[in-house]
Parts: sequence; C-alpha cells; structure tokens
Amino acid sequence: MLETVKYLIGAAGPSGYGSKSTAEEVTESCLDLRSITAIITGGSSGIGAETARVLAMRGARLVLPARNIKAAEDTKARIVAEFPESEILVMPLDLSSLSSVRNFVSEFESLGLPVNLLINNAGKFAHEHAISEDGIEISFATNHLGHFLLTQLLLNRMIETARNTGIQGRIVNVSSGIHGWFSGDTIRYLGLITRNKSHYDPTRAYALSKLANVLHAQELARRLKEMDANVTVNCVHPGVVRTRLTREREGLATDLAFFFASKLLKTIPQAAATTCYVATHPRLLNVSGKFFSDCNETSSAKLGSNLDEAARLWSASEIMVSGDPKAVFDPLNPLA
Ligand SMILES: NC(=O)c1ccc[n+]([C@@H]2O[C@H](COP(=O)([O-])OP(=O)(O)OC[C@H]3O[C@@H](n4cnc5c(N)ncnc54)[C@H](OP(=O)(O)O)[C@@H]3O)[C@@H](O)[C@H]2O)c1
Repeated sequence: MLETVKYLIGAAGPSGYGSKSTAEEVTESCLDLRSITAIITGGSSGIGAETARVLAMRGARLVLPARNIKAAEDTKARIVAEFPESEILVMPLDLSSLSSVRNFVSEFESLGLPVNLLINNAGKFAHEHAISEDGIEISFATNHLGHFLLTQLLLNRMIETARNTGIQGRIVNVSSGIHGWFSGDTIRYLGLITRNKSHYDPTRAYALSKLANVLHAQELARRLKEMDANVTVNCVHPGVVRTRLTREREGLATDLAFFFASKLLKTIPQAAATTCYVATHPRLLNVSGKFFSDCNETSSAKLGSNLDEAARLWSASEIMVSGDPKAVFDPLNPLA
C-alpha cells in the first residue's frame, strides 16, 4: 500500500529519484558521455527512442540497430534536429533472426568502433502465435535469444574497450515487472509453445521472455565477475507506459485498460529514466547483477533470482544459438 502511494506521488527512493523522474533528470549528474559509444536495440520507437535522445543529448555516439530502417532513420533525424552534433549510425538488425544478429555484429565489427554501453531494449509482445525463422516461439526469440546472441558476440569488444579506455562497460537488459507472472518450468513451457500453438498464451509467453532477460543478466553478471572483466550487467523494469508494444492489441478493450490504469502509467521520458540511470549514473560503478525499477535497486521475482535456473537457461540458450535450436527440447536432452 505504502509502495503504491510512493509510486503515485513519485517519492524519491535511496537513489534520490523515483517513479516520476525523467531520463533527462537522472542523467544530469552523469559524466560527460562524449567518449562513450552506445548500442541501443529498439531505438526506433517508445522507450528506446527516448533513451537514444537523452544519451545523444549527453554526447554519446549511438548505434541504432533496427529492423525498421525508416523508423530508425526518422528517430535519428529528430535527434539530430534537436542536437546537431549527434553522431548516430543506423544499421539493419532483426533480433528474431540469429543470422541477422550475426550479420549485424560482423558489419559493426568492420567499422572498428568501441562499445562502452549495450542497451538490450527491443521488445515484442506477440498477440498471435508465431515461430521465428530459427524455429523458436517469436517473443522468446526476439526478446531473449536475439539479445543473448548479440551480447555474446559483442562481449569481447566491450571487455577490450573497457580495458583500453579504463571506462567500465555497462550492459542494461530492459525486462519488465511482468517477469514475475511466469511460474513453472521455463524450458518445458518454451518447448510446448514452440511445438504446439494450442498451448500458446501471449501474456505467459511474453512474461517468460522477460524472465529470461532477468536470468540472462544474473548469469552474465556471475560470468563477468569470474572473468574479472570491467563490464557490468543489470536489468530494469521501465514501468508501464503506452507505446507501440501493444500494437497487435489495439482496440476498444486496450483503450479502456489504459484509461482505467491511467493514474499508474508513466510518460515515455519517465519510462526511459531507469534505463538511463542504470546505464550512466556514477553511483552504479561496479554494481552488477541487480534489478532496478523507478531508478532504484529492488528485488526481482523469486524465479528471477534463482542462480540454478539462470545457469540452466544459459546452457539452453547456448544450444539454441548454436545451429540446431530445437535440440534443446529433445526429451533426451537433460535440460528439457
Ligand atoms: N511499454 C511498457 O509498458 C513496457 C513495460 C515493461 C517493459 N517494457 C519493455 O520496454 C522495451 C521497449 O518497449 P516499448 O514499450 O518502447 O515498445 P515499442 O515502442 O514497441 O518499442 C519496441 C522496439 O523494439 C523493436 N523491435 C521489435 N521487434 C524487433 C526485432 N525483431 N528486431 C529488432 N527490433 C525489434 C521495435 O522496432 P520495430 O519498429 O521494427 O517493431 C521498437 O523499436 C521492451 O523490451 C518492452 O518489453 C515496456
């Protein structure tokens, strides 16, 4: 109850920020970002576009990998009109396709650019059941698997950049509070909805993919620490905001749901605040493997902080990105 009141009035938490803080406000005290190169997925609209705008405002060079190049170019044009010094590269990437992720990374590497920040923000809520070209349920393929492979392929470059510049690298996974709605066996449910349309529940599938974002950050944080890499990874819940995420569910029912929830909704600048805070704030130096909401550290759901589950999902994801994604659902596979 007290938490809801704090949320509604935007009371500041220990970080000094709260639910009503905006991305511009939380980056006011960040170091000059002119030496920073940031890759932001899903930067063409919604929370990602505002994240891109504010990081460009603070001087960061941006790479915006996008499926919809025209939308990303429009976002770039708006940012450049506001901040003419901005350096922004738009490059093709469809996160639901493992070969597209590989193509993006090889094209990016050919540019010889550093990477200080990776913001895994793109997201899809698939109202209709669909399977990716690699044979995996589409929300999981887009929200988790594409980002898992992207992060794996960019990791050495990030570690090297941090070593060469002395600036700690940061990875931010944009998850959702809805990750706590998933209960049950992650791999088993993914196998069910991948093989059989009749088991598909769009909200449960989306929640699973967002739980995977949390588990990914957990296991990656552990591995980065073990490697003694000067790179951190954290996960955020941006808050609830009306964006194009619900585009497949537009209609009267969605309008009514947003109307009745209007007091709980954030604006897009407020929804981009937690990502920007975690990506840039000097206070978060060396902070890794944590979950943030309303610009403050908080707990993820119980399953999201289960280290065994994080390790299990990591192993399954490695199999899924390595040639025969469906092998993970083979009953003889110990992960299944
Ligand atoms: N809105 C909320 O209330 C809310 C709440 C909690 C968490 N989130 C999370 O916040 C993040 C941003 O969502 P948003 O609300 O800003 O939604 P949005 O406006 O729909 O933005 C999503 C972005 O992801 C991109 N994307 C989707 N599928 C892609 C693919 N296959 N390959 C590459 N890019 C793809 C979209 O590009 P296209 O234009 O090509 O589709 C778009 O730029 C998501 O991870 C979402 O799960 C949102």
